[in-house]
Amino acid sequence: MAGILSAAAAQARPARETDLRPAEAAMVSVRGLEKTYRPARGPLTLFKNLDFEVAAGEMVAIIGQSGAGKSTLLHILGALDTPSAGTVYCASTNVAKFTSRQAAAFRNREIGYVWQFHYLLPEFTAQENVAMPLLARGQNKREAMQLAANWLSEVGLDDRRDHRPGELSGGEQQRVALARALVNNPRLLLADEPTGDLDETTARQVFDLIERVHLNHGLTSIVVTHNLDLAQRCSRVLRLEHGALSPYIAQSNLRPGSGSE
Ligand SMILES: Nc1ncnc2c1ncn2[C@@H]1O[C@H](COP(=O)(O)OP(=O)(O)O)[C@@H](O)[C@H]1O
Ligand SMILES: [Mg+2]
Repeated sequence: MAGILSAAAAQARPARETDLRPAEAAMVSVRGLEKTYRPARGPLTLFKNLDFEVAAGEMVAIIGQSGAGKSTLLHILGALDTPSAGTVYCASTNVAKFTSRQAAAFRNREIGYVWQFHYLLPEFTAQENVAMPLLARGQNKREAMQLAANWLSEVGLDDRRDHRPGELSGGEQQRVALARALVNNPRLLLADEPTGDLDETTARQVFDLIERVHLNHGLTSIVVTHNLDLAQRCSRVLRLEHGALSPYIAQSNLRPGSGSE
């Protein structure tokens, strides 16, 4: 396994299903999920009776038009939002039933979240930003700073520890955000258009890095992206459309008589 992982890291080549950890059990299991927003101007149902599973070790891409509900779905999986109905098991815990205090503890323990924008705190250094989730849960500062330094090294930013976010490039800021998301050793990585604000080359480099940490740390990852080339490097691509998630089949795989999954 280590050989496979380091080879994957060294060559930064696309992951294939066989490179990823075998599916041991569902890390995410969603049943009968409904989300309806009820603003004054009238209700908006984003999904209803949505079922899907993500196995431990999978790296799944979610694509879909703007407004399809991708961010809302990730927020629900990450206990940042609550469903209107249904069960949402994430890391063996029903996150749909949490109080806000339970949700915060769960997020801190189990979920690494990366957004399109880095949301790093501008007045703190890269290392302090990465240490923040550890300090928030009461870890002593020396240990937190050491673990943050280890993570910055893992994302290739050893020499940027003392830089503030404004002194980093967009790609470097996302690397710091990824290190901050993972410093607590979560099992599930949720990434919402993590490369959406980056140029093509930098986007590919950040995606390479996500893939590498996914493999090296045995994560289960769900990545929302508009970039089909990057999405198709994941073990599965799902499209969210009209409230349903279905396997995305690339046009080149659609041949007469080949049917679909
Ligand atoms: N708090 C809210 N109240 C009402 N509507 C919302 C709220 N949050 C999101 N929406 C609507 O839900 C839809 C899906 O949003 P979102 O999950 O952000 O989609 P995506 O990430 O796929 O672009 C959008 O039409 C959006 O306007
Ligand atoms: Mg979104």
